[in-house]
Amino acid sequence: MRDISKALGADLMEACSDNGVKGKLGETLSVPSLGRIPARSVVLVGLGKRPAVKVAEVRRAMGSAADKLSGFDIVATTLGQVGRSPEGAAQAVVEGLALGGYRFDRYKTVKKKATRTGPKEVLLLGKAPDSRKVRAAIARAEVVGDAVAWARDLVNTPSRDATPEVMAGHAKRLSREVGLGVKVWSPEALAKGGFGGILGVGQGSANTPRLVELTYNGGRATEAPIVLIGKGITFDSGGLSIKDAKNMESMKMDKGGASAILASMRAIAHLKPKVNVVAIIPFAENMPSGSAQRPGDVIKHRNGKTSEVLNTDAEGRLILADALSLAVEKEPAAIIDAATLTGACMVALGKDVSGVFGNDKALIRDVLAAGAAEDEPSWELPLFKGYRKDIDSAVADIKNIGSSYGGAITAALFLKEFVGDIPWVHIDIAGPAWADPANALGPKGGTGVPVRTLVRFVLDRAGRGR
Ligand code: BES
Ligand code: MN
Ligand code: ZN
Repeated sequence: MRDISKALGADLMEACSDNGVKGKLGETLSVPSLGRIPARSVVLVGLGKRPAVKVAEVRRAMGSAADKLSGFDIVATTLGQVGRSPEGAAQAVVEGLALGGYRFDRYKTVKKKATRTGPKEVLLLGKAPDSRKVRAAIARAEVVGDAVAWARDLVNTPSRDATPEVMAGHAKRLSREVGLGVKVWSPEALAKGGFGGILGVGQGSANTPRLVELTYNGGRATEAPIVLIGKGITFDSGGLSIKDAKNMESMKMDKGGASAILASMRAIAHLKPKVNVVAIIPFAENMPSGSAQRPGDVIKHRNGKTSEVLNTDAEGRLILADALSLAVEKEPAAIIDAATLTGACMVALGKDVSGVFGNDKALIRDVLAAGAAEDEPSWELPLFKGYRKDIDSAVADIKNIGSSYGGAITAALFLKEFVGDIPWVHIDIAGPAWADPANALGPKGGTGVPVRTLVRFVLDRAGRGR
């Protein structure tokens, strides 16, 4: 700050206090350089109180500054020097810029900042003790930033343009572009395969369901894969148990889990960790109609278990039950699912924190740690056995709603019925999948959570050689 002040011949501390800028995290001030230095503009960004400044603060600070930086070709920053991990800071700088600068204006005929895109080049000022590591961190951040932006695009895309068929098409194109194995189950194939949950949820819509499998082979051929599952309800009207207008408004986001898994597979394919990963993504549109499933219907899942559908709005668990059953058939080392599953999870943890459930202590720990490291906050909630009786059904093996309380837990307990004894974690992203209002890491709308968590989890696991 002192050096720049000197070069500009202006007191930047004074400029800050004149403008009421105190250095709080994410506060920004643009100062035109008036030709006194080669850069056209100096952007000051607050990092908050010094002891608390870590990688997450760098990412958020850069995210806040991103708007001020769009339209410039080259950005030079000292933020890469913050903290004790040069590669962590470099990663956060690049990610912050990508996430904070993200916009979704595909449907606007008058673009707000037409042609204004993010900078082409970022210069990290200061010394890089291990430039090879820093370079790798930057490359990884670019891949992750692109993946998150894609996940956001998919979540933000209106449901009429993101039907199950269209989403399966995205998966096919991805597989061609990055070299992943792909299999799309048609409605007929789903019927033959006994996927009663996916078909039941989808049967009310003219847009028929699909199931997508993507395969990444980075490990030994004999090594058990990690299976990633994402809830892909392309629109959740609630079905015959229909939602009211306010609650239906944002339900194009109910493909948030699926979008995050597709994007994670893209990042994984680019980053090539030494591990095997299979994605299993069920897509269906939950609509009311003359052909829709009714409250009281009983459906049969892929693994033969039956569920009584007492509320057609508790549809996520029905399609996930089939996906989990298929996952178990792959004899995986671990299963992780991400789903915008319950409003109850938002009541419990608020909008910014994902709920994490699981049957394996080490796996839960690793997922929570990956989320914390990536500043995608999450918290463990209990698979409390005492509530299992709440989903006992009088007529089927299980029913799809519990009592009025603890809804995130009874939903997770429902899923647990389909994983056997495979290590499994369920991430309820109902809150974090969608930002409203905008924040430092992006505008209002899809967030791409938990792409960063999952990519880190997979890379860390490959790094540990498991
Ligand atoms: N997709 C919703 C959950 C949701 C709500 C996600 C708000 C994001 C924001 C899910 O399918 C749903 O409708 N859940 C019901 C379950 C209930 C009927 C047992 C809910 O949470 O109310
Ligand atoms: Mn629903
Ligand atoms: Zn839903």
